[in-house]
Amino acid sequence: MAPTRTSQRALLLSATLGLVNAVALPERTPEPARIEVRAPIVTPAAIRFDSRHSYLEKKDILDNIKSGLAGVEQSWASVLGSALPSFFTEGVPGWFENLPTGSQVQSSLGVSSSDLAALPTQVLNVPPYANWTEQGWNVRLHGNVYKIPNVSQSKIDDLANVFLIDTSVDKLPADEQANARNLTRSIFIVQQGDVNVSMSLEPAPSQGGDGEPGGGNSIPATGGVQNITLPYETTPEGDFDVFVPIKSNGLLRGNETNNVQRMNVYTNGTLTGNATAFLVPPTGITFISDIDDILRVTKIWDPKEGLINSFAKNFTQWMNMPSIYGNWSRTLPNNTHFHYLTTTPEQATRNYMDFIYKTYPGGSFDTRPLNFSDIKATLSIRMFLLQKVFATFPTRKFVLVADTSNSDVMSDYPQLAHDFPNQVQCILLRNTSATDSSMWFPYNTEGFKGLNNKSYMFFRTPDDLTNLDIAAGQCLNTTFAQNVTFDRQTDGRFSLRSAGGKLQGSATVSFIVALVAAMFMTL
Ligand SMILES: *[C@@H]1O[C@H](CO)[C@@H](O)[C@H](O)[C@H]1NC(C)=O
Ligand SMILES: *[C@@H]1O[C@H](CO)[C@@H](O)[C@H](O)[C@H]1NC(C)=O
Ligand SMILES: *[C@@H]1O[C@H](CO)[C@@H](O)[C@H](O)[C@H]1NC(C)=O
Ligand SMILES: *[C@@H]1O[C@H](CO)[C@@H](O)[C@H](O)[C@H]1NC(C)=O
Ligand SMILES: *[C@@H]1O[C@H](CO)[C@@H](O)[C@H](O)[C@H]1NC(C)=O
Ligand SMILES: *[C@@H]1O[C@H](CO)[C@@H](O)[C@H](O)[C@H]1NC(C)=O
Ligand SMILES: *[C@@H]1O[C@H](CO)[C@@H](O)[C@H](O)[C@H]1NC(C)=O
Ligand SMILES: *[C@@H]1O[C@H](CO)[C@@H](O)[C@H](O)[C@H]1NC(C)=O
Ligand SMILES: *[C@@H]1O[C@H](CO)[C@@H](O)[C@H](O)[C@H]1NC(C)=O
Ligand SMILES: *[C@@H]1O[C@H](CO)[C@@H](O)[C@H](O)[C@H]1NC(C)=O
Ligand SMILES: *[C@@H]1O[C@H](CO)[C@@H](O)[C@H](O)[C@H]1NC(C)=O
Ligand SMILES: *[C@@H]1O[C@H](CO)[C@@H](O)[C@H](O)[C@H]1NC(C)=O
Repeated sequence: MAPTRTSQRALLLSATLGLVNAVALPERTPEPARIEVRAPIVTPAAIRFDSRHSYLEKKDILDNIKSGLAGVEQSWASVLGSALPSFFTEGVPGWFENLPTGSQVQSSLGVSSSDLAALPTQVLNVPPYANWTEQGWNVRLHGNVYKIPNVSQSKIDDLANVFLIDTSVDKLPADEQANARNLTRSIFIVQQGDVNVSMSLEPAPSQGGDGEPGGGNSIPATGGVQNITLPYETTPEGDFDVFVPIKSNGLLRGNETNNVQRMNVYTNGTLTGNATAFLVPPTGITFISDIDDILRVTKIWDPKEGLINSFAKNFTQWMNMPSIYGNWSRTLPNNTHFHYLTTTPEQATRNYMDFIYKTYPGGSFDTRPLNFSDIKATLSIRMFLLQKVFATFPTRKFVLVADTSNSDVMSDYPQLAHDFPNQVQCILLRNTSATDSSMWFPYNTEGFKGLNNKSYMFFRTPDDLTNLDIAAGQCLNTTFAQNVTFDRQTDGRFSLRSAGGKLQGSATVSFIVALVAAMFMTL
C-alpha cells in the first residue's frame, strides 16, 4: 500500500467507522490449511506470525505516516501530547484484529446469497484437548464454519497488497504470491452461523514410532468410531466451542493410563475439518507455547518484516528450537502434553497448525475466536484461553513459553504463577531484544516481582534451554545473567519518556489503523 495517502484516508475513515486495527497476515505455502491427522514428527519446516505483539515502527514508516497526516495534525498532536493508553505503550494488538466478518465480506465483495449457497461449507477444526472426568473423557471441540466466496484473483491481489509494505503481490516470487493469495482468501470468508456440526472420532493410527510425549509419546486410542453432534448450533460468527463427553469405546481411562491418547476427528460433510484430539491424563506437564517469535521467525515488532513473514514467506523455524522441543517430547515422561496457544485470529491459523505439525511435537491448539475482536477482548483473550486450560487440568503442571514482545504474555504468565503457584512449573521467555537489535520496544517485568526467581527464565537462544531438568522443576540456566528490573525494561535502547517513545507508540497504532482502514477502502 502507499502509506501516505492511504493512511490519511484511513485515519479519517477509522474515525468515521470507529475501526481500530486489523489486517491479516500470512502464512505459508501453498498448502494451507490442513490439519493433518498424523503424528508429530519433528521435521524442520517454515514460519509465520501472531498478533498480540508490540509493533515497532521503523523510522521510514513513521515518516510516511506522518507525512500522510497533514490534515489531521490535530489528532496526531493530541495523541502525542497525552498519556497514552496502555495498549500503545505495552504492546499493540496485531494486524489481525477486527478482520471483516461474514456479512461485511459478502456485501462489500458483492457476493450474492445464491452464489454463496452453491459453495461448499468448510470447517476449521482446531486440534482439541480432552480431560478425564468421572463421567469419562470430555473433549473441547472448537473451530469455525464458513464458506470461501468466489472472488476474482485481481480483487484478492488488491486485498493482499494492503498487507504488504513497499511491495505488492505481483512483485513477489511465485511461492510467496501463492501464500499471500491463499491467506487472503482464508481471511475474506463468510462465516456460517446457526449450523449444526457433527463429528466422527476414531482411534488414530500409530505414529511411526519413536514416541514423543503429547505429540510423540501419545498412543493411539483403542476402540471404535463414534459420531457426535455438537449440542449447540454455531454462533453468528460461525464459531463452535464446547466440551463434549465421548463414549469410552475402548479408550484407556484417564485414571488408569499415564499416556496421552490421540484420536482422529473428522467433521461430517467436508474434507476440510480434520484434526487430532489429545486425551490428556490428569497429571503430568503441559507445555503451553506461543508460536510467533518463539517457534517461528516472525519479527512482529518490525511491521514490514512481520507482514511479509506472516503473509507471504513460508514459515521458518526459530533457530534450533525444534530440536529443543523434540528433545523434551522424547525424554520427558509419557504424560507430557504440548498445547500451542496463539492469539492470531482463527481464520489465519491453518498455516500455523500445518507448520507446527511438520516441525514441532504434535499437540492441541488455541487460537483467537472471532467474537473476541474489540480492543478490550483483544487484550484479554490470552488470559481467557490460559485460564480455560488451567481450569480443565487442575492437577497438571504447566511450563509457559513465549517471548518478551507480547505485552499480554508479560502480564498474564506471571499472574498465573501468582494465582496458581502449584501449577506453574516454569515460565520460559525469550528475550527478543537480546538477540534482535530491531526489537527495542520496552517490555515490562513488573509482574515477576515476588515470584521464586528460579521459577522463570529470560533466555537468548534455544541453546540456553539445553540440559534443563524441566521435570524436576529446573527452569533457570545460571550461566548467564537475567537482568530483571521488575519494571519496564528497554535493555538500554529506548526511553519511553522521550518524545520518540511516545511517537513510536502512537505511530504504531496509526499504522495499524491505516492498514485496516485501507483494507476496507479497498473493499
Ligand atoms: C516454500 O514452500 C513451498 C511449498 O512447500 C516450496 O515449493 C518453496 O520452494 C518454498 N520456498 C522457499 C523460499 O523455501
Ligand atoms: C490454500 O492452499 C491449500 C493447499 O494448496 C488449499 O487446500 C486451500 O484450499 C487453500 N485455501 C484457500 C483459502 O485458497
Ligand atoms: C477410574 O475411574 C473409573 C470411573 O470413574 C472407576 O470406575 C475406576 O475404578 C477408576 N480406576 C482406578 C484405578 O481408580
Ligand atoms: C468463480 O467466478 C468465476 C468468474 O465469475 C467463474 O468463471 C467460476 O466458474 C466461478 N467458480 C465457481 C466455483 O463458482
Ligand atoms: C440443529 O439441530 C437441532 C437439534 O436436532 C434442531 O432442532 C435444529 O433445527 C437444527 N438446526 C438447523 C439449522 O438445522
Ligand atoms: C458415523 O457417521 C458416518 C458418516 O455419517 C457413518 O458413515 C457411520 O456409519 C457412522 N458410524 C457410527 C458408528 O454411527
Ligand atoms: C453427515 O452428513 C450427511 C449429509 O452430508 C447426513 O446425511 C448424515 O446424517 C450426517 N451424519 C451425521 C452423523 O450427522
Ligand atoms: C480428512 O480425512 C479424510 C478421511 O481420512 C480424508 O479423505 C481427507 O483427505 C482429509 N482431508 C485433508 C484435508 O487432509
Ligand atoms: C511410555 O509409553 C510407551 C508406549 O506406550 C511405553 O512403551 C513406555 O513403557 C512408556 N514409558 C513409561 C515410562 O511409562
Ligand atoms: C474438565 O474440564 C472442565 C471444563 O474446563 C472442568 O469444568 C472440569 O472441572 C474438568 N474436570 C476435571 C476432573 O478436572
Ligand atoms: C543480561 O545482560 C548481560 C550483559 O549485558 C547479557 O550478556 C545477557 O545476555 C543479558 N541476559 C539476558 C537474558 O538477556
Ligand atoms: C545454559 O546455557 C548455555 C549457553 O547457551 C548452554 O551451553 C547450557 O547447555 C545451558 N544449560 C545449562 C543447564 O547450563
